[in-house]
Amino acid sequence: MEYDTKKLDRETARTRMENLRAELDMHNHNYYVLNNPTISDKEFDDKMHELQALETAWPEFFDPHSPTQRVGSDLTKNFAQVEHKYPMLSLSNTYSETEVRDWYERVSKGLGGKEFEVVGELKYDGTSISLIYEHGRLVRAVTRGDGVRGDDVTANVKTIRCIPLKLHGNYPDEFEIRGEILMPWAVFEELNREREEQEEPLFANPRNAASGTLKQQNPAIVAERKLDAYLYYVLGENLPADKHYENLKAARQWGFKISDAIRVCHNIEEIMDFINFWDTERKNLPVATDGIVLKVNSLQQQQELGYTAKSPRWAIAYKFQAERAITVLRSVSYQVGRTGAVTPVANLDPVQLSGTIVKRASLHNADIIAGLDLHVGDRVYVEKGGEIIPKITGVEPPANNETRGPKVTFADVCPECGTPLIRYEGEAAHYCPNENGCPPQRIGKIEHFTARKAMNIEGLGSETVTALYKNGLLKDVADIYDLTVPILAQQERLGTKSAQNILDACEKSKQVPFERVLFALGIRFVGETTAKKIAAAFKDIDTLSAAGKEELLAVDEVGERIAESVLNYFSSPENQEIISRLRAKGLKFKTDENERTRTNVLQGKTFVISGTFDLHSREEYKQMIEDNGGKNLSSVSAKTDYILAGHNMGPAKLEKARELGITIIDEQTFLEMIAGNNSEQTRPITTATQPTLFD
Ligand code: IVH
Repeated sequence: MEYDTKKLDRETARTRMENLRAELDMHNHNYYVLNNPTISDKEFDDKMHELQALETAWPEFFDPHSPTQRVGSDLTKNFAQVEHKYPMLSLSNTYSETEVRDWYERVSKGLGGKEFEVVGELKYDGTSISLIYEHGRLVRAVTRGDGVRGDDVTANVKTIRCIPLKLHGNYPDEFEIRGEILMPWAVFEELNREREEQEEPLFANPRNAASGTLKQQNPAIVAERKLDAYLYYVLGENLPADKHYENLKAARQWGFKISDAIRVCHNIEEIMDFINFWDTERKNLPVATDGIVLKVNSLQQQQELGYTAKSPRWAIAYKFQAERAITVLRSVSYQVGRTGAVTPVANLDPVQLSGTIVKRASLHNADIIAGLDLHVGDRVYVEKGGEIIPKITGVEPPANNETRGPKVTFADVCPECGTPLIRYEGEAAHYCPNENGCPPQRIGKIEHFTARKAMNIEGLGSETVTALYKNGLLKDVADIYDLTVPILAQQERLGTKSAQNILDACEKSKQVPFERVLFALGIRFVGETTAKKIAAAFKDIDTLSAAGKEELLAVDEVGERIAESVLNYFSSPENQEIISRLRAKGLKFKTDENERTRTNVLQGKTFVISGTFDLHSREEYKQMIEDNGGKNLSSVSAKTDYILAGHNMGPAKLEKARELGITIIDEQTFLEMIAGNNSEQTRPITTATQPTLFD
């Protein structure tokens, strides 16, 4: 903010404040709720500071709901909310050595010139968590929420291996410890690879991936995601030491993961050394960090310094500069993927950015383009930050007399086939709906079909497929099995030998199991894992093709979106024709039967599985229900006969079951039922006698 807030005229100041409040509210929502920030932290902080200055200068425009009056919220409606014993404040951010020195001076002054130590720590870039321990056991884990109350995510946090459930040594009877939950880079990259394959939206960075994971309703998914956590702040009445550093050391003894990258600094030079060292060294860490946190070591001195409304005076964050470059936007082009998703890409004047030359950057979607107010020829900021693909984070404001190039507006027709683009409700992306006529979509489908994880037809890679498509020899996946040596050998760079190899590979692909054939068909949202689950549930393509929505939804991991997509796929006559041509060529369209015990004891009975189990996985229970003639349903309705309930059954399900008078059984009872000791009355667990449901 470069102007004197008091010198504005009244009306201009009021409008500016209103605009800033609206803008900051939107960015808070993007950050905390959508996990999709569209501006950098620095820009956010600058706007917040400008608003704070205006509010001080113009107190008559005070608004109790202004974003300056709260610290942002990540509350979601699906978790129980818990009040924090001590509010979870944020830290004020600094971006330069001068600001750090100013803080150091302020602390020194605040302590009346007395000596003090400062603990330097890494600022981990994940999602913060408060853990409550009583008698050496983890009793609750709560997110920051709005700082006053947070979401109770205990069940999810318990799946994070590095968080101790029981402590060792000499710990206080009751205390709280705070830290950061993180997704290590390697896990994040792997997760995004999988999501790409499943055609799910990618996480922009490990922070969003970590917080998104922590808000999952199913702890089993959290467990799979291999989160990590560093703890950095112990609170309580009976702490072992009167220094922050000593308390962290003690916490390490109790079993917590405390970083080694901690230093007790005795003067500002030691602080600056610590900052400079980690500014480079952090690039070698397995987790994301975005700065340094400095804390006054003595708890007594912390108390003396106290707090402002939003943050402690005894601590500060120094944020590392995101690696950023400025360059010129030359044009925007659009890529059409296999699924028809249209991705805007910025073409830039080449620029050096953290070791690589960047010529293109992601623009994500139409909303982001509109938010940036981009014009061709603009000078734009490109950042790598924690993201995988560089992105444009801002536009350098044009000089006063500068004429800007044309405004960038999102394409309204497909750049490949001219079909008007569509945008599904609630989705950020635009799609070309011409699934069977748009060349990149047709080529993409064939490439996907021949890929290693699908039919594994070696030799039919991207180039050959594109060439064959362009020559009119390959229009869909079924054409693959009509290829001959003379046709293939006509292609540039393909001799008779390679042509024969391709045909051999095609022949071999006829042995690929049904689940992979199903994946190869390229049904939207049906990735490798989902295809496996669907194949196991329906066993053959005819049963699958005839399945209704309810049956599809009963398959584990199949939700509305996937079910709709499967229904849509099989409703197309063109797809049905491809399937029958492939079937005629001898591809596998049913599972190989394997040996499992099957009975009819559950014939005509419907089940909903809820919660987590001790004896078998949910997946195994689903299979057992089917193998014994029963049916799985995804949600509780009047049609449900039984709820197979484990631990942590959702309260909404429980309430509904109670209303509908559905019998709730535990896993032991279920196993007895299928073992033949079949009686509903064996050990029905009524809602009234099931105190452990919320364990
Ligand atoms: S101390 C009152 N230490 O940064 C002080 N915070 O804006 C409480 N963070 O919400 C925080 N690394 O999520 C502290 N070593 C560290 C940290 C750290 C990351 C996060 C934390 C907090 C935010 C501050």
